Amino acid sequence: MSQDLADVRIVATGLYTPPHSISNDELVAAFNAYVEDFNSKNAAAIAAGDMEPLHPSSSEFIEKASGIKARYVIEKDGILDIARMAPKVAPRANEELSILAEMAVAAAREAMRSADLKAADIDGVICAASNMQRAYPAIAVEIQDALGIDGFAFDMNVACASAAFGIETGLGLIRAGARRIIMVNPEICSAHLNFRNRDCHFIFGDVATAVILERNDGAPASEAWDILGTRLKTKFSNNIRNNFGFLNHCERETGAAADPQTDPSTDKLFMQEGRKVFKEVVPMVSELISGHLGDTGVAPEDVKRFWLHQANLSMNEFIARKVLGRDATREEAPVILDDYANTSSAGSIIAFHKYKDDFKPGQVGVICGFGAGYSAGSVIVRKTA
Ligand code: COA
Repeated sequence: MSQDLADVRIVATGLYTPPHSISNDELVAAFNAYVEDFNSKNAAAIAAGDMEPLHPSSSEFIEKASGIKARYVIEKDGILDIARMAPKVAPRANEELSILAEMAVAAAREAMRSADLKAADIDGVICAASNMQRAYPAIAVEIQDALGIDGFAFDMNVACASAAFGIETGLGLIRAGARRIIMVNPEICSAHLNFRNRDCHFIFGDVATAVILERNDGAPASEAWDILGTRLKTKFSNNIRNNFGFLNHCERETGAAADPQTDPSTDKLFMQEGRKVFKEVVPMVSELISGHLGDTGVAPEDVKRFWLHQANLSMNEFIARKVLGRDATREEAPVILDDYANTSSAGSIIAFHKYKDDFKPGQVGVICGFGAGYSAGSVIVRKTA
């Protein structure tokens, strides 16, 4: 990855926000009703000391510990139904557009409209997200088909860092000869979140984002961000993990696997050691950004904005403080997780999409995604048009 990458630029972003929002109070009311129901159904075992009672959640804790106030979701009633606690997603026929592709197509269309680009102007589609709806055909190929793009498409998954890795991948494809790549991040996080687990039931929301990358031949663009550099980092950790996968079916036949629909401690949904993640990921990400800026010849004080992954407010405040050597203002490190919660790979792109219009040509910012793996990716951009 060389440091003078102005041969590739970002020319548009797009955002799809689902129609339903769940406030902390609504989520906590459903969780606490579930806890009451669970404890009363198991009252005898709990009284005998054979079972631990479940403890209630609280909106105050959620906002204080994470900064999250609400989350958008693709379907609300199923999540708040204590007999279910998962979004209700109706199956679709193979001939219909799948829901993950539908969200990505909406974000992609917005990005294409804003850059005034047609399907014929795009050579490839990357679908970079934490969870793909199925094994194959690739969701990206379905998105490519729905958009009418003639070229190629593929899926990739680097958890919450997927968008940064997707930008780096798109950049490489453009260097290899493609003219434009659209990179999308559809995230239905509510479908891999354990709404019965008090430690994490509040963390995630659903959304889709899109970024269009283009070979920089100097042609005028209504919006353009030169990519000055990208840097990726991974380091194995079990502290964020989800064991859902194609072998689960075989494991169930041996009686080894829990049923994710009924077991509150299932490992087939998102699990994390939140404190450890916090402690280990903050230094990893701040060192990544600081080293990347230093090697690119950009002083931290010359960065107008850090569009960071949106998982936890104090985590972002720590990272920005380590990079800047002082507290960042909300203008320097904008927050969208209050309304959106953690939207995995899409978080830093939502922040970029919503907080970039005040940039003047020459001003520099950093897009940074990080999460499970561990994985982290930094993208330094400079506004040019
Ligand atoms: N409501 C009320 N209390 C709760 C609660 C809830 N929903 N969940 C946990 N608690 C309690 C715990 O039982 C614990 O009580 P104790 O001190 O009596 O033992 C206390 O609150 C602190 O719990 P802890 O899990 O240590 O909270 P935390 O301050 O670490 O915050 C996270 C939890 C998840 C918000 C935080 O660790 C985090 O965001 N970490 C980084 C996560 C991340 O970025 N993950 C990436 C995902 S892709």
